[in-house]
Amino acid sequence: MVKIAPSVLSADFGILAEQVGEVSPEADWLHVDVMDAHFVPNLTVGPPVIESLRRHTELFLDCHLMMTDPGKYLEAFKHSGADGCTVHVEVGQTAELIAQMRDLDLKVGLAANPDTPFDLVAPYLDRVDLLLCMTVFPGFGGQEFMADVMAKVAMARSEIDRRGLSVELQVDGGVDEKTAPMAARAGATVFVAGTAIFHCPPSWEAARRIRHAAQAASGVERLERESGR
Ligand code: DX5
Ligand code: ZN
Repeated sequence: MVKIAPSVLSADFGILAEQVGEVSPEADWLHVDVMDAHFVPNLTVGPPVIESLRRHTELFLDCHLMMTDPGKYLEAFKHSGADGCTVHVEVGQTAELIAQMRDLDLKVGLAANPDTPFDLVAPYLDRVDLLLCMTVFPGFGGQEFMADVMAKVAMARSEIDRRGLSVELQVDGGVDEKTAPMAARAGATVFVAGTAIFHCPPSWEAARRIRHAAQAASGVERLERESGR
């Protein structure tokens, strides 16, 4: 099942609720990029904006924490109405952060930068709900999709299937209707897109095009896997 997660980073924050309303018919989740100007060289939003969003939408709020010290704020994210949080494996203390998210009853996500090997996240696969393979270096919207990351996505897909896990496999960065099929063929299930959705009005139509492109490719991928190719 393909899930589309529009990234509000590329939306107009002055009319955020309106922009979310417009994309909602074609959105499964909403992706919220939290940047701390330390783990990444950019600064965005935190719990107050998530709290405001929560009042305007029932969509699953998928909070991508690009932060050096996410543990300090997980409780605040939970209380602001986040449904899931994703922390980066590069910040360390992964087992503790996963346990903290579970205790708070948040869906647990683990992210890996494009140059972080699969081996670093593999030991946590049975403890997470989502694995995010970044397809750009985090920090900014509008960057180019890194197709090389598809080898890691395919590796993650085969390991998830081999172990019979039900971990969502997310890609984020440069995802559009041309690149989503590559990720779908590699086995991704959740497609984050900012620029390709909010800069291409009407946003719901752009999201629908990405969904259809990904669905068509993931159908092919499933058939190929089932026939042992
Ligand atoms: C990048 C963020 C992404 C970003 C993607 O650091 O994690 O979620 O919004 O934006 P696009 O789709 O424009 O590459
Ligand atoms: Zn993101």
